[in-house]
Amino acid sequence: MSKKYHIHTFGCQMNVHDSEKIAGIFNDTGYGTAEDSGDADIIVLNTCSIRAKAEQKFYSELGKLKKIKKKNPNLKIAVAGCIAQQSGKQLFKRFPYIDFLFGPDNIGSLNTLIEGGNGRTAIEHNPEYHTSVIPMKREGGLKAWVSIMYGCDNFCAYCIVPYTRGRERSRPASDIYNEVKSLADEGFKEITLLGQNVNSYGKNLPDNIDFPDLLSKLNEIDGLQRIRFVTSHPRDFSAKLTRAIRDLSKVCEHMHLPIQAGSDSVLKSMNRGYTYSEYKAKIDIIRDLDPYMAVTTDIIVGFPGETDEDFEKTIQALTEIEYDAIYAFKYSKRPGTEALYLPDHVDEEVKSSRLSRILKLQESICYRKNKILEGKVVEVLVDGPSENDPTRMTGRTRSNKIVNFSGDIADGGNSVFIKILEAKMHSLNGEKV
Ligand code: 5AD
Ligand code: SF4
Repeated sequence: MSKKYHIHTFGCQMNVHDSEKIAGIFNDTGYGTAEDSGDADIIVLNTCSIRAKAEQKFYSELGKLKKIKKKNPNLKIAVAGCIAQQSGKQLFKRFPYIDFLFGPDNIGSLNTLIEGGNGRTAIEHNPEYHTSVIPMKREGGLKAWVSIMYGCDNFCAYCIVPYTRGRERSRPASDIYNEVKSLADEGFKEITLLGQNVNSYGKNLPDNIDFPDLLSKLNEIDGLQRIRFVTSHPRDFSAKLTRAIRDLSKVCEHMHLPIQAGSDSVLKSMNRGYTYSEYKAKIDIIRDLDPYMAVTTDIIVGFPGETDEDFEKTIQALTEIEYDAIYAFKYSKRPGTEALYLPDHVDEEVKSSRLSRILKLQESICYRKNKILEGKVVEVLVDGPSENDPTRMTGRTRSNKIVNFSGDIADGGNSVFIKILEAKMHSLNGEKV
């Protein structure tokens, strides 16, 4: 009987996609999937260290595995991802029941690590990782993630990613094209291109290609219906990209453009490389070219030194820009980052009250923006039955809004036109036309 693996994933889309690569390698090596931890021969915890909360979740899961391993001493435990990369061999000392460690750049050496008796760790940054082609086990057959670059060179003062995922490297455009082409041939209809800063795609490649050029190349692939991408850094954002989104039929009208804060002095100590008015000018370019393009963002509240006055500027920015959605976080201290050493760290209660103010404000903005869609007909790519109410179907608009409607199972995987009847805070209800 073949051995079985189980993967527990923490953190971002990039990590979820890394877990698909880990699963792909296990599959290729002849492993089967285990339904849960108790049933597995090897358990991989694919970890995230972006904020303290994500880290705590990992440590609590690791604690549970200690008990499982006591009952089943043959069980192997591997720690992957950003915590493995960052904490390295110290983890073996603190938790001797861990068997293997491997970092985000070392997924390709997973089988030699586990099967080959080549030691227990693979956490060296691999400068060639971006050129390797790794098998993947993707969930579902409709939407897929595709990495276009790895790492990050921005060194925002709060962020651990440049330390865990290393320097920025773009994958060769031909590898990306071939991957997307074969996904489309398999029947996938939507792809999301992943990178920490997709706007700087191509910088170190020998071919003269930038991100909008890559989008035009992928736009030609038959069968593919939608192209999305995350994440863009406002500093490298170009009008050429907005034109590409407007003019390329498959590229969805949605930009995720993290602002992080509205105050210039906070932006400066975050090392973001733009002022609020520079950022706002880019939003104006987007809205001039396409007033219907959805714009979403990330916000950090309570960055060291953020005064009440600074915070009001973030509130003002949200009110002025009216994002379609935001992801807001309380600043979290990360080891080794510059912000840790800044003066005037903000009290936890102040951070919490700022966060709830931001979320409340955004709820009213989301509702107002969704309300505008009432009576309009939108194109929805249908994911399948809704989890909350299996009698209804659910899908997303090109601008990435959730739409629920009464349809039938056969709509799953197809594009349908839906008339929006009712706006909710975080979704829309409609009927087929
Ligand atoms: N604390 C809080 N939020 C953070 N982010 C990154 N690092 C931190 C941190 N130390 C947020 C940023 C980023 C998103 C992915 O996570 O808003 O855009
Ligand atoms: Fe993703 Fe960053 Fe978390 Fe690593 S630390 S998993 S890159 S969010």
